[in-house]
Amino acid sequence: MARVALVTGGTRGIGAAISKALKAAGYKVAANYGGNDAAAEKFKGETGIPVYKWDVSSFEACSEGIKKVEAELGPIDVLINNAGITRDTAFHKMSLEQWSAVINTNLGSLFNMTRPIIEGMRARKFGRIINISSINGQKGQFGQVNYSAAKAGDIGFTKALALETAKAGITVNVICPGYINTEMVQAVPKDVLEKSILPLIPVGRLGEPEEIARTVVFLAADEAGAITGSTLSVNGGQYMA
Ligand SMILES: NC(=O)c1ccc[n+]([C@@H]2O[C@H](COP(=O)([O-])OP(=O)(O)OC[C@H]3O[C@@H](n4cnc5c(N)ncnc54)[C@H](OP(=O)(O)O)[C@@H]3O)[C@@H](O)[C@H]2O)c1
Repeated sequence: MARVALVTGGTRGIGAAISKALKAAGYKVAANYGGNDAAAEKFKGETGIPVYKWDVSSFEACSEGIKKVEAELGPIDVLINNAGITRDTAFHKMSLEQWSAVINTNLGSLFNMTRPIIEGMRARKFGRIINISSINGQKGQFGQVNYSAAKAGDIGFTKALALETAKAGITVNVICPGYINTEMVQAVPKDVLEKSILPLIPVGRLGEPEEIARTVVFLAADEAGAITGSTLSVNGGQYMA
């Protein structure tokens, strides 16, 4: 029987590449998204992957959404916590709303999504949880106190939960992408990208969403049972933690 994988923010950018790669690897995939119905419908039409709309910053919405996915596809074996947002500004100008939105979406979502799923994984003695953090959670970034704090939190969450679930056949790992060629990065002005970002990346180019996706497929495999609590950097050599 094909394993079931749920990808948050799975309809655009890195998440869309992850959803497609997992489907190609034989998983039954469900892709969650937050608000962009047009992008989700386009993704569904192109891939045949079912899409589910809910806000990962809400515990109740996650619990309901997960119930629906499990009723339609079966128990979730693989959870990819990928959904994320930025609200960049210098800390002395940061509003409580900008802080809370980023913490709740990028870090709170790991509790909201994983807590309703973990008991079933424990009972079935199998699970793969893969969190998408960021290079900026490892090294900090100007204008991103909220985002760096949330993404560093994702790494701590991963390590602690990996310890708790190791005996139950559940692995928990975190991937830290560097600058990846998605809408999030395409929004950066071209001259900033060429003068300030690309020179910092030893491979001399942005990463591609598919490069994150293949890392996810690697970690999700049944054969990857000894890889847990690890932080994998996919950043073109920009930061070696
Ligand atoms: N791109 C990069 O260079 C980069 C680098 C390091 C880390 N990352 C991390 O990688 C992940 C994916 O980034 P991306 O560049 O692919 O982002 P993206 O293109 O902006 O896509 C974000 C996805 O997350 C969903 N989402 C956002 N808020 C949500 C919410 N509250 N509830 C449910 N879904 C929500 C979006 O849904 P809608 O389509 O409905 O808006 C979308 O599907 C994020 O965690 C990001 O922080 C990205």
